[in-house]
Amino acid sequence: MSEYLYHRLADEFAGLIAERVLQPGDRLPSVRRLATQKRLSVSTVLQALRQLEDRGLVEARPQAGFYVRRRGRLPAEPVAARKLSRPTFVGVNQLLMQVLHANEQPGVLPLGAAYPAPGLLPSLRMQRMFAKVARGRDDLLAVGSCVRGNDERLVRQIVRRSFDCGASLSPDEIVVTNSCTEALNLCLRAVAKPGDTIALESPTYFVLLQIIESLGLKALEIPTDPRTGISVEALELATRNGAVTACLLIPNANNPLGCIMPEENKRRVAQLLAERNVPLIEDDIYGDLHFEGARPWPIKAYDTAGNVMLCSSFSKTVSPALRVGYVAAGRYHAEVNLLKTLASGVTGAMPQAALAQFIEGGGFDRQVRHARRAFAAQVTRMADAVAEYFPAECLLSRPQGGFVLWVEMPRAVDALELHRAAVAEGIAFTPGQLFSASGRYRNCLRLNCGNPWDERFDAAVRRLGELVRVRIG
Ligand SMILES: Cc1ncc(COP(=O)(O)O)c(C=O)c1O
Repeated sequence: MSEYLYHRLADEFAGLIAERVLQPGDRLPSVRRLATQKRLSVSTVLQALRQLEDRGLVEARPQAGFYVRRRGRLPAEPVAARKLSRPTFVGVNQLLMQVLHANEQPGVLPLGAAYPAPGLLPSLRMQRMFAKVARGRDDLLAVGSCVRGNDERLVRQIVRRSFDCGASLSPDEIVVTNSCTEALNLCLRAVAKPGDTIALESPTYFVLLQIIESLGLKALEIPTDPRTGISVEALELATRNGAVTACLLIPNANNPLGCIMPEENKRRVAQLLAERNVPLIEDDIYGDLHFEGARPWPIKAYDTAGNVMLCSSFSKTVSPALRVGYVAAGRYHAEVNLLKTLASGVTGAMPQAALAQFIEGGGFDRQVRHARRAFAAQVTRMADAVAEYFPAECLLSRPQGGFVLWVEMPRAVDALELHRAAVAEGIAFTPGQLFSASGRYRNCLRLNCGNPWDERFDAAVRRLGELVRVRIG
């Protein structure tokens, strides 16, 4: 009897998958929920899911549940550039603003900027948090301070959470900022002056290049493996002669590659940079959004010299509009804190207090668990669509977290020209040229997977694939 039941359940799901009601990357309901819904025992449901797994229709992901497997083989992955480039002044700002404006025109499908869909964010709960702190704390809007800008409760929560990823931050090293972008800006200004060279991953998040450009610094692009992140050997070489002033990395779920550096590499980078007295500015904004296993540690966790400035924010998990971030600046705290005061005084008391309330009540941990699962499924779905619709010669990243995908197209395709054509048809993406200071990645693009999949995205990726195909003849 029990065999019949689990067969029947497995067949039911196989049918839904065949009819594409359930699509590659979709998460099946949890075992417990299925057991309740179908009035079956947990072991019968598990047997059915194992059978679907044996048939190659679903895959189990640790701590995340069962997902419908992709249809075919994914394209191969891109490979890292081998050559170390020369330090260069950056000139992406004008181009960047044009692309960002084009991507945000009304009606353009949001495959460009790396924003989560509003529906995935806890906006209603945050509204309640704001109401709650506004009612209970009439001092919040009335009292100013030049030196006490941090909400102590928020800092306590940031410190508490840092223990989960080996970083053990100290409250005394933290400066709460207006977003991660401000934190990165302050750190660079604290340690570098115009003309200095900053080592970065290649490709890297374009705003890092933009900040470097605005501060008159030079960028040195270090070869970066799409699976394992920055080449420690190349970084070792680049920092040998004292020409690199600071290093600026995104080691966890890197933007745009999605890779997470192996822990051993992080330890080596922390040690290397401390020995050479090269400060590291670490952008950990996607660290909580890893897809599998335990929370990856930041490089800061391996730093015993106070040499790492860990920057992050709540823009990818709670709200991109809240503009609350922070930096744990280690031995650079005093400089960063002074620059923060000069740049923008203190960070708004109200958003800090609302956020502290949200984290204290367990809302943030729940939100992060929910967002990680959603992004993992959305990235899988987008990867499947690229595999299906883009020419077979294209290469595709395998993100281990975050919510962007990186596609390398044949050399004949100019991503900027493709972008103009796509935006004219209401489809955004970010052209590869923006991710390099030295004109690399002309034939690459980044896709935002922050939105739940629907037929609009399917049609857009199909159309992008056609536009690419036309260009390679
Ligand atoms: C790697 C990385 N750092 C920082 C940011 C910006 O964060 P915030 O909105 O907190 O300034 C982004 C946003 O796309 C990002 O991808």
